[in-house]
Amino acid sequence: MRTAMSDLLDFDVPFFAFSHCRDVVAAVTNAGGVGVLGAVAHTAEDLEIDMKWVENEIGPGATYGVDLLMPSKFTGAKQGGLSREELRAQIPEEHRAFMDGLLDRYGIPPLLDVPREQRVKRAGLQVDPKSMTPLLDIAFAHDIKVIVSGLGSPPAEVIERAHAAGVVVGAQAGTVEHARRHKEAGVDFVIAQGTEAGGHTGDITTMVLVPQVVDAVAPLPVLAAGGIANGRQVAASLALGAAGVWCGSVWLGTEEGESTPAERERFIAARSQDTTRSRSFTGKPCRVLKSAWTEAWEQEDAPQPLPMPLQSMLVDRSRRRVQRVAHKKDSRAPELLSPFIGQIVGQITSIKPTRRVMTEMMEEMAEAIARLDDIMSED
Ligand SMILES: Cc1cc2nc3c(=O)[nH]c(=O)nc-3n(C[C@H](O)[C@H](O)[C@H](O)COP(=O)(O)O)c2cc1C
Repeated sequence: MRTAMSDLLDFDVPFFAFSHCRDVVAAVTNAGGVGVLGAVAHTAEDLEIDMKWVENEIGPGATYGVDLLMPSKFTGAKQGGLSREELRAQIPEEHRAFMDGLLDRYGIPPLLDVPREQRVKRAGLQVDPKSMTPLLDIAFAHDIKVIVSGLGSPPAEVIERAHAAGVVVGAQAGTVEHARRHKEAGVDFVIAQGTEAGGHTGDITTMVLVPQVVDAVAPLPVLAAGGIANGRQVAASLALGAAGVWCGSVWLGTEEGESTPAERERFIAARSQDTTRSRSFTGKPCRVLKSAWTEAWEQEDAPQPLPMPLQSMLVDRSRRRVQRVAHKKDSRAPELLSPFIGQIVGQITSIKPTRRVMTEMMEEMAEAIARLDDIMSED
């Protein structure tokens, strides 16, 4: 397929896959699309390992990329980022007590009390320039072809560095204003992401947002995102003027995806109306499956979610506490599970290999386009 994205990147089909999971990234690139590794919470060591692994799987020169979050508003922005200790000190006791109280009510056992210095190293969300730099250094030392900011316009230094390395830069937009800002910042393409999407998302639908963004940033190519998980939705995106699609949720229903067995069960059972947007995970609105957790944070007695990255620091251990016992018989942990996923969750009916998802999407897209052609033909 040739679209406006083909002038920027080499691929067979303009299907971009966002995933935190290296296996999905490699499988999508190997199936002719473009895998993009979500690295915002990778430690530098893990990112190095994952990128080496992906490059080994996809072979030299194949198209893949890295995604980071580059928001302009976060705690410590003025100082260019704060240390984990400085951030931790800003989490109010009231918030900690609320989280512990919720988990205690559901009988979720605490994590083992391992001293902080002996715990497995976790990066948390690295959204400030200081903590992002090692990740950028690793990304640019590898053979990536594309880098994307999932939140905010990429800073000028990142764009300059990418262009000097021949790397194409994209950014996600939930409004026309975001998209215009990205274009002014100098990105090469924009991802117009509708509210249907899993993860951080705005409140405008993909159907309404994509054509507006296409017009606002022309001639920059636009990928459509949010609510795209089958070939008819891809064909519709192309009809809206998109030069390809960017999907995240659909890979959570794949064999290679990172979801736990308990989460997969929830996905298969869930309907599209079972998602909600909640600020209780990262401080910014995120689409997740509804649960007792999201409901508790909506109650009047709940504290206001903290700004990024404090809220994710607050809930990180609680989420792991829940996940650790979610598979246990008689545990009430599944009631608190709220994995990030978009409204396409209602389309996930079984767990499939990533390559099969790609093939089905391609075939269905071709059928949909042929059907539209038939509608227009005179005979
Ligand atoms: C589990 C999950 C985690 C996500 N995390 C990020 C992220 O770290 N960075 C980012 O740019 N987008 C992230 N997203 C959003 C995706 O990049 C993408 O825009 C979105 O999934 C597209 O809509 P869809 O979920 O309907 O396919 C995430 C999405 C999901 C489902």
